[in-house]
Amino acid sequence: MSSTVTPSRSSSVPKIPVGVLGATGSVGQRFITLLRDHPWFELTCVTGSDRSIGRRYGEAAHWALPDAMPSAASNLVVERTGRGLSPQLLFSALSSEVAREVERDLAAAGHFVVSNASAHRMDPDVPLMVPEVNEDHLGLLERQSFPKGGALVTNPNCSTIGLVLALAPLHEAFGIEALSVVTLQALSGAGIPGVPSMVALDNVVPYIGNEEEKLETEPLRILGTLGPHGIEAASFTVSAQCNRVAVSDGHTECLSLRLRGEPSVDAVTRVLESYRSPTTAHLPTAPDLPIVVTDQPDRPQPRLDRDRGGGMSVTVGRIRPCPLFGIKMVVLSHNTLRGAAGGSLLVAEQVVAKGLIPGLRAPSPAVRE
Ligand SMILES: NC(=O)c1ccc[n+]([C@@H]2O[C@H](COP(=O)([O-])OP(=O)(O)OC[C@H]3O[C@@H](n4cnc5c(N)ncnc54)[C@H](OP(=O)(O)O)[C@@H]3O)[C@@H](O)[C@H]2O)c1
Repeated sequence: MSSTVTPSRSSSVPKIPVGVLGATGSVGQRFITLLRDHPWFELTCVTGSDRSIGRRYGEAAHWALPDAMPSAASNLVVERTGRGLSPQLLFSALSSEVAREVERDLAAAGHFVVSNASAHRMDPDVPLMVPEVNEDHLGLLERQSFPKGGALVTNPNCSTIGLVLALAPLHEAFGIEALSVVTLQALSGAGIPGVPSMVALDNVVPYIGNEEEKLETEPLRILGTLGPHGIEAASFTVSAQCNRVAVSDGHTECLSLRLRGEPSVDAVTRVLESYRSPTTAHLPTAPDLPIVVTDQPDRPQPRLDRDRGGGMSVTVGRIRPCPLFGIKMVVLSHNTLRGAAGGSLLVAEQVVAKGLIPGLRAPSPAVRE
């Protein structure tokens, strides 16, 4: 693996070379744009399937974002996903089946892998991270036995991330007893080429494979506690119903919550409005406000609210009484930014800032440019 580093434009501290696995897909393309001007990381390696290997990224990727493809990325040659890649730090945007085959092997070869795939999210020794919420779960890395500094860390499902950010302060302040969540999930969540247009247009599909199971288990792990025997999951019940809707980006989630002590709408609103994250405030990709609360009666809406905080803030609105559970609200987050590539970048920034990747350190001082 290369230890070659490139000086950052704004400081003499070198940038850290990184690779993106599955760089041509929906999440991979978000990584490419977010890494273009990243103050700490420099994209030096992209991988894809047999379809793309050996081609220039600019030819292999069916670019689907409004921003122009960064020229540095377009000239990279797509590499095979496996041992021998140069950067120590790798972001994975692979499908889960492929991730299951290669991610542990790459960690065993000494790579620090930050993955969006679901393959290893629930492995007992693998942290499932929302950096604002469960930084202490990085302690699980001590249980991993990969040689040469290798490690595997995961991001939650794209709906879980927005949901957990909104739940975390409420769970801490009151304790959650039960949650019902109904999602309205964007098309980009299905990747590229994704849902056929004749299915997506003028339609709602009330089924997304394995999604409800993820939404009913991942939040409990993230809001759980790290103990001597690993993660002890939070103990409330979650019921999830997941729908695909004809929206390009941004997952909307309608929540009904039973909170301990039956707090008022005002008390819940105050907790959400005052939420700040001391564990991520200094990191380049962290938004100023992880949670933005709106009191407009018809918000949040995907088109109007998904890009708040550079796509990294979660917008919460319509906080109101629920005759069944006590409190209702609507949560919106950007599924390929906060819910995928941006979320992964924040994880990587957190582990680098904490000095958890041997031989790599954050450009100093570790503040936003
Ligand atoms: N989309 C979202 O909102 C979202 C959010 C959170 C997490 N995720 C997760 O992130 C991962 C990527 O999702 P996506 O939506 O970006 O999927 P996608 O658009 O289908 O992209 C899949 C990527 O994997 C590559 N790939 C496929 N087979 C491969 C193989 N055998 N070896 C190496 N690379 C291979 C593809 O390369 P080629 O183009 O060269 O075939 C492409 O770059 C998935 O695990 C997904 O569940 C997605």
